[in-house]
Amino acid sequence: MNFSDSEIVAAILEEAGFGSTKDIKEADMIFINTCSIRDHAEQRVRKRLEYMQSLKKKNAQLVIGMLGCMAERLKTQLLEEEQVLDLIAGPDSYRDLPRLMAEVESGRKAVNTLLSMDETYADISPVRYDSNGISAFISIMRGCENYCAYCVVPYVRGQERSRDVVSITQEAEVLFQKGFREVTLLGQNVNSYQWTRDGKETTFAGLLEKVALVNPLLRIRFATSHPKDLSDELIQTMARHRNICSAIHLPVQSGSTRILGHMNRGYTRNQYLERIAAIRNLLPDCAISTDFIAGFCDETEEDHKETISLMEQVGFDYAFMFRYSERPDTLAAERYTDNVPSGVKDRRLREIIDLQQKLSYQSNKKDVGKTFEVLIEGFSKRSDAFYSGRNPQNKVVVFPVTGNNPGEYVLVKINRFTSATLIGEVT
Ligand code: 5AD
Ligand code: SF4
Repeated sequence: MNFSDSEIVAAILEEAGFGSTKDIKEADMIFINTCSIRDHAEQRVRKRLEYMQSLKKKNAQLVIGMLGCMAERLKTQLLEEEQVLDLIAGPDSYRDLPRLMAEVESGRKAVNTLLSMDETYADISPVRYDSNGISAFISIMRGCENYCAYCVVPYVRGQERSRDVVSITQEAEVLFQKGFREVTLLGQNVNSYQWTRDGKETTFAGLLEKVALVNPLLRIRFATSHPKDLSDELIQTMARHRNICSAIHLPVQSGSTRILGHMNRGYTRNQYLERIAAIRNLLPDCAISTDFIAGFCDETEEDHKETISLMEQVGFDYAFMFRYSERPDTLAAERYTDNVPSGVKDRRLREIIDLQQKLSYQSNKKDVGKTFEVLIEGFSKRSDAFYSGRNPQNKVVVFPVTGNNPGEYVLVKINRFTSATLIGEVT
């Protein structure tokens, strides 16, 4: 999400006549795009600001700005806490950056943290920097109104709003014409995408279908899905289109219905398992990945064991795993006590990570002998004798270079694997 936002910021600044540099020492202005999701993310930004301070000592004219969620959360308080900052801009005020920069140039500190009800940056064509020219992100909605008890996102990214369906399909078409072959549709909860124009409603499944029809050679991915809103219509749409990749990221957070209730997730363990069964039924080769939070308020050993048993039951292909970090102003911070001791959180997280490693190993092992369609992204990190790409399930596949070029599809038969990579050869 932040990467995609930085591409929008780059486009706004380019339009206003600013250039970019890869050498930080050459820059006259540096913007840090920030995340507030866990305390750790904010601490890393604070460390980064120390480095900015050292750059500013060498160049007093240097302008330092903070963008994104941490800017939104802390607002002007940041100017007091972090003297190095000249500019603060929240996620909905990027169009105002040129004005804010002019204000800084005239000697004042500049702040805009207004949240909007309709800003989607729909008309802005993001600058694809650091791009491999093959895969790109398309932001389809902003904000979130789910108010999961632990989560700061609804407070820092504002109300949920969907982007005009026409601007999304046009962006996908332009990317395809430029040679891109994979787009990932991004939103906090893509399943609640909804766009109405002239009485005609487009759901997320409808949008996905429209993007899939741009060209059969354009692969479509999406993130993130919320289990409470993942519709049968969506699964059926995925089954109908070969170019919609067989991979669903479906964060579960916990395997305990009691904890899910505390978290305000809007589904029970059984309802989650029912969605998994619906996916497996129509998309038997679909990869399923998830997120877990270990040690949420009041989580008992029993609750934790339910998470472990859910992991075993589903057999996730991949997971992002976190220890609970209390965030100011969230429902959990206001209503509950962060009462799982730190050591217990760490141990539970360790158990989740250890089990997921086994599950990911099993998932890769099952792929040996199978043949996948792989979109070539470029040379592998380790050697120019190998190409690297991804299969529809989003696993990295590495294979000896053939006469094909990046951006082309090849069929690769898997011979072996490491923890993070499938290794094979073109058939
Ligand atoms: N503590 C730990 N993990 C969190 N996440 C969101 N908020 C918190 C928090 N306060 C995790 C969730 C979410 C992912 C993006 O980050 O698992 O799905
Ligand atoms: Fe946060 Fe829940 Fe919204 Fe995801 S769905 S961004 S976890 S509030």
